[in-house]
Amino acid sequence: MQVEAWNSVAQQINFNLEVDQLSFRQHVAFDSPILDYGCGYGRVCKVLLEQGYNNIIGIDTSPEMIKRGNKINPELSLIESNDTKTKFLNNQFGTIILCAVLTCVPELEKKEKIIAEIKRILKPGGILHLVEFCCDSDKTFKSNFGITMHHQKPNELINILKSFQKMKCEIFETETMNGQKAKAMSYFGRLK
Ligand SMILES: C[S@@+](CC[C@H](N)C(=O)[O-])C[C@H]1O[C@@H](n2cnc3c(N)ncnc32)[C@H](O)[C@@H]1O
Repeated sequence: MQVEAWNSVAQQINFNLEVDQLSFRQHVAFDSPILDYGCGYGRVCKVLLEQGYNNIIGIDTSPEMIKRGNKINPELSLIESNDTKTKFLNNQFGTIILCAVLTCVPELEKKEKIIAEIKRILKPGGILHLVEFCCDSDKTFKSNFGITMHHQKPNELINILKSFQKMKCEIFETETMNGQKAKAMSYFGRLK
């Protein structure tokens, strides 16, 4: 089970994929209600809080990730969440961040369920900022901490985002947590 695997590494793992802070500031107001979906130990929430965003919630399916985040950054609002159905209201958020989450969900059906839930809780016209590893040819592999990863082709990622109006999309060079060269996609889209 992926949740157990995340729990088992939650105290020592450090995530590295960067959100596009500059574009985020251009598109997202400081008081926008923001959800970091799959927040881990709250790394991205913390960066945004330090920039002046004051209405951020992070959710994650791994209770141990949430425990670590709440311990090291008690000022953040991080909560444990169910797999594909959250407790939030329809249209509750103005902005949702998905950073390195779909990468860890190999099944297309499950990825689509996550996107469907995001569509439910994001306001019409709300912004999705997605940052995910990608690859020229589809790649599924087991990471050295035992979690199955899926690096998808950029056009396949775009395909599951068809309910969003693309605002910005860039492919950039980066590294995996193991220091392997990799590509990632940074995407901003507005819910149609
Ligand atoms: C690679 S980590 C990225 C964490 C964080 N977004 C960051 O970039 O620092 C992926 C996280 O997604 C969480 N996750 C996986 N599937 C999820 C789901 N369906 N709902 C919420 N969180 C999920 C995992 O528990 C893990 O903490």
